[in-house]
Amino acid sequence: MKAIAPGKIILSGEHAVVYGKPALVMAVNRYAEAGISGNGDARVHFELVDFDENSSLTIQALRELKGRLVRNYQMFLNGELGIREVLKKPFHLFEFLFITFLDGVQIKLDRGVNIRLHSDIPVGSGMGSSAATLLSVLRGLAEYFGLDFKPDDYFNYGFEAEKLQHGRPSGVDPYVSLHGGFVRFQNKRAQKLPMPEMPFYIVNTGVPQSTTGECVAHVAEHFAHSPIWDDFEAVADEMQRALLKSDLVEVKRWVRANNRLLTTIGVVPASIQEFISHIEKSGGAAKIAGAGAIKGDRAGMVLVFADESSNELISRYGFQVMNVKGDPLGARIV
Ligand code: PMV
Repeated sequence: MKAIAPGKIILSGEHAVVYGKPALVMAVNRYAEAGISGNGDARVHFELVDFDENSSLTIQALRELKGRLVRNYQMFLNGELGIREVLKKPFHLFEFLFITFLDGVQIKLDRGVNIRLHSDIPVGSGMGSSAATLLSVLRGLAEYFGLDFKPDDYFNYGFEAEKLQHGRPSGVDPYVSLHGGFVRFQNKRAQKLPMPEMPFYIVNTGVPQSTTGECVAHVAEHFAHSPIWDDFEAVADEMQRALLKSDLVEVKRWVRANNRLLTTIGVVPASIQEFISHIEKSGGAAKIAGAGAIKGDRAGMVLVFADESSNELISRYGFQVMNVKGDPLGARIV
């Protein structure tokens, strides 16, 4: 049995959403996939196909791992551990999810479980790949065990696990991957909006050297109590209006404003800012889509509103254009 869950693109409001401001977010047709089946050896097997990694633990070992991860996370909250040190291996995130789910729904396993994970969402690049993988596993497990899971159940389990990866996340990634569509997300709730009809490019500038958790922690250090988040909110409001009217001139205006704010909080590397300036000079607009980066010269996905003339510019920088469209459905069984 297989479940999939989509990745996402943030059109406006990354980082501000951590401070209770709105984000405009679209689920896109790149998917994480979880294949779930039974096995006879009373262990839980994870296969991370894209990382060529495997793990196999007993329920007892999973509970011990969970204890260690919870302690690590508490140390992170106390400022004693960096967020990158909470999860030591990629599959720890999914093992934590599995055992938290199993104990939460109080199921006693009478045989082992195989969970095979695969994704075509670029990892660590602002497209919500870990949240999509978490949601595909949850959707698959709820189906496999025949549970009547409500949206809040999926969200809460996904969010608890995501914290170990991102530190203090807003919850936007698991929400959008679960529900699909285009939404205005704020304080763990969202309003569904019509899918924007205007064409844009998603340009992959490469995997940032810093993680989402590190970017969020860095921004918190300098801007946690700044009034700048009101400016982010005003920009998201204007962008929402412009997108719903399909008014490209206005959308570009607010994308530029959004980029200036993101540059101010320090998540747009100089080399990416240079690329964005070139796009602006040729009449377009662009901004990072996701956490961005606080070191190195790559920033994951960049959202570009421009005509085809920018293609030459994009390839001059050696960046890849990703062809994506909206996913209206969210996590589901396939
Ligand atoms: O994981 P990313 O790179 O898509 O970033 C998510 C958006 C942030 O606002 C930076 C973090 C969050 O939890 O909302």
